[in-house]
Amino acid sequence: MQFIDLLSQKERIRTALLHRIEGILDRGQFIMGPEVTELESRLASYVGSRHCVSCSSGTDALLMPLLAKGIGPGDAVLTTPFTFVATAEVISLAGATPVFVDVSPDTFNMDPDLVGYAIDDAVQRGLKPKALIPVDLFGLPADYDRLHAVADAYRLWILEDAAQSFGGSFNGRKAGSFGLVGATSFFPAKPLGCYGDGGAIFTDDDELDTLLRSIRVHGSGVDKYSNDRIGINGRLDSIQAAVLLEKLTIFDEELDARQRIAALYSKRLHGRVAVPRIPEHYSSAWAQYSVLAASNAERERLMLALQREGIPTMIYYKIPLHLQKAYDFLGYKAGDFAISEDLSSRIFSLPMHPYLEDDEIDHICSVLLHA
Ligand SMILES: Cc1ncc(COP(=O)(O)O)c(C=O)c1O
Repeated sequence: MQFIDLLSQKERIRTALLHRIEGILDRGQFIMGPEVTELESRLASYVGSRHCVSCSSGTDALLMPLLAKGIGPGDAVLTTPFTFVATAEVISLAGATPVFVDVSPDTFNMDPDLVGYAIDDAVQRGLKPKALIPVDLFGLPADYDRLHAVADAYRLWILEDAAQSFGGSFNGRKAGSFGLVGATSFFPAKPLGCYGDGGAIFTDDDELDTLLRSIRVHGSGVDKYSNDRIGINGRLDSIQAAVLLEKLTIFDEELDARQRIAALYSKRLHGRVAVPRIPEHYSSAWAQYSVLAASNAERERLMLALQREGIPTMIYYKIPLHLQKAYDFLGYKAGDFAISEDLSSRIFSLPMHPYLEDDEIDHICSVLLHA
């Protein structure tokens, strides 16, 4: 059994994709070809934002807005410690300091009630709080109504880390559209993934869009060889854009399948493990289906039982970021973010992809129910 099955999906898009790739090979426009422009306009209308700037990875999609907004040394950017390292890494790469805010125990997303404490912490350390990076963990958008209220009160702008939530929604609005700017990832294992690295940035802000397009190509001015600012090589290549265009044609169908699979899992497993809670008016993109065991030892036991049956599982995330060696210099210690630490000790993810068969789901659930 696969944790994520990309092969079944590939068979569905294979013929149309090969046709598109052949066109790219014939035209020879491998970088910034027409596929990239077409993709950006499709993605912008899917997310409901004025602009979409495609780029080379989810990490660059997070980094570029920080550079565009002039985030740098002396600035604090708030995010959660219960995320993939890229979310905090980009803050450090921009020269600023990550300041962590713990998550809610039920949604695993940034707890808006705790932002004020992190602001105090940042100010005490002599930093200027500038921005908030909430993460839509496992595909579920964060609580943006309350996060916007807090951000406004402290004059922070929001960069939505929608790396895992492309396709998710809240109150009918799509993930990627909730901040001043949103960033997503097209890493192959993501709900919408390409066949390599890729990402995209969404914003309604015209000025930011212009800056992001410049930063994406080495801070280019009128052309690539006049450089107005420090930028990066952050482009998405034409072949990856072609992959994404084809995958978009079946994406909503795939989201429905993920939704159905998550509902089946939750119905069967409710009571055996803590199943994900999706608050009213929210919809998850189900990048992961993650459950909580009663204890660390119970997690080991359940994962081993599944492994014996050839069922793969993963732990996202085993070590919260404030306890990672790379962030020793921030001076955090065990106990600082109790919810993230507890989640790290008990959480694990089950196979999740649109092509999971009912008998596979049944097998996974039976193993867990009898372990
Ligand atoms: C929450 C989160 N942020 C950022 C990233 C970075 O995306 P990428 O791997 O495309 O650079 C990821 C991807 O793994 C992620 O899960």
